[in-house]
Amino acid sequence: MEEITRRTISSYFFFFLFLAGKTTGKFSHDNVTALFIFGDSFLDAGNNNYINTTTLDQANFPPYGQTFFGSPTGRFSDGRLISDFIAEYANLPLIPPFLEPRNSQKKLYGVNFASAGAGALVETFQGSVISLRTQLDHYKKVEKLWRRNFGKEESKKRISRAVYLISIGTNDYSSHFLTNQSLSISMSQHVDIVIGNLTTFLHEIYKIGGRKFGFLNVPDLGCFPALRILNSKNDSCLRDASRLAKMHNKALSNLLFKMHRQVKGFKFSLFDMNKSLRLRMQHPSKFGFKEGEEACCGIGKWRGVFSCGGKRIVKKYKLCENPNDYIFWDSLHLTQNTYNQFAKLIWNGGHLSDSLVVGPYNVNKLFQIP
Ligand SMILES: *[C@@H]1O[C@H](CO)[C@@H](O)[C@H](O)[C@H]1NC(C)=O
Ligand SMILES: *[C@@H]1O[C@H](CO)[C@@H](O)[C@H](O)[C@H]1NC(C)=O
Ligand SMILES: *[C@@H]1O[C@H](CO)[C@@H](O)[C@H](O)[C@H]1NC(C)=O
Ligand SMILES: *[C@@H]1O[C@H](CO)[C@@H](O)[C@H](O)[C@H]1NC(C)=O
Ligand SMILES: *[C@@H]1O[C@H](CO)[C@@H](O)[C@H](O)[C@H]1NC(C)=O
Ligand SMILES: *[C@@H]1O[C@H](CO)[C@@H](O)[C@H](O)[C@H]1NC(C)=O
Repeated sequence: MEEITRRTISSYFFFFLFLAGKTTGKFSHDNVTALFIFGDSFLDAGNNNYINTTTLDQANFPPYGQTFFGSPTGRFSDGRLISDFIAEYANLPLIPPFLEPRNSQKKLYGVNFASAGAGALVETFQGSVISLRTQLDHYKKVEKLWRRNFGKEESKKRISRAVYLISIGTNDYSSHFLTNQSLSISMSQHVDIVIGNLTTFLHEIYKIGGRKFGFLNVPDLGCFPALRILNSKNDSCLRDASRLAKMHNKALSNLLFKMHRQVKGFKFSLFDMNKSLRLRMQHPSKFGFKEGEEACCGIGKWRGVFSCGGKRIVKKYKLCENPNDYIFWDSLHLTQNTYNQFAKLIWNGGHLSDSLVVGPYNVNKLFQIP
């Protein structure tokens, strides 16, 4: 995150400690919480199992899921995702995918709307994914279900007390490189449209009653194995992909702080996933990893070919012995071990200066706010 933004964040921490002191006790008797999850494959717990798409956007075959669930669930990892850990820390059950049949009771603790491949733009992998706009329509259906179930007042209270976890943007940018389609507009125009659509989405959730938002920013995409192998010139990261991600992250941070100032009751936690991932890639052993660049599952240089499981375009793949040693699970996604470390920061981060990657609130605090 930019220096200025970081300073802004640290000043917000005092504000947040102040708030913490004021509010504890007030809500301890009334602590019903819920978690709504939106976005892309970093958070999709299996929605894409239920749509008509291709294996490019699905992970419902081995070895996905092997470390934790023992069988594939549709999660793009060897085990749990950030959202699964956050639900656990919040004492919630695993949050079910919206499209999973027969679980309307479980949907009373929150719902996961995320879809691998999805972006803030409807055009991003259109036809193969559930766009953020359609995810919003699904959320509106759940809100209706809640009203029927809890009644209008109680439902409203729960909607505003819930935390909305969002990961979006990665596909809006990476899709152009992965499908070899050049941008028809400038990079900054592209970022503006993505952020504009995201702004619309946030205002819609706010209108319905959502107040507490948890965000992951976009990682340094050009350094992901799948994009890095597209850089035929040399071994460095794919510059334009990283540049777009960087512009997006700056605009995202600006948007959230602006909404925090201008929109009454809007609260957020922004996790600098980019910085946390970069740190681990640069010093894997410091964080308990043995490999920081190559993916555990896939083939080719850095296992950058997206072939994990052998059900996509390329059928050949190799699988590492111990995914816990790796930061990347496949060429576009991270291992459970990495997600677990991130989830801890998102939940608890902000108390120590060296973990200044989440703010102005951490997600634990967001849950506690009445
Ligand atoms: C809510 O509060 C009650 C009473 O303080 C406690 O027993 C319960 O474990 C809490 N539930 C959650 C989900 O934190
Ligand atoms: C799924 O999509 C394919 C390709 O778009 C189409 O040919 C097929 O009819 C679809 N199947 C269903 C069940 O909608
Ligand atoms: C991508 O497109 C460019 C021109 O549009 C072409 O020269 C290049 O070979 C394509 N690359 C791949 C990997 O298809
Ligand atoms: C995204 O923004 C573009 C340009 O402003 C607009 O045409 C489009 O309808 C928006 N889409 C969504 C899903 O908000
Ligand atoms: C690698 O290629 C990028 C452009 O894609 C260029 O900016 C960079 O200087 C090159 N690095 C080396 C070491 O040649
Ligand atoms: C990610 O963080 C690194 C180090 O803090 C920074 O140099 C880079 O520009 C950031 N990239 C993005 C996409 O935010």
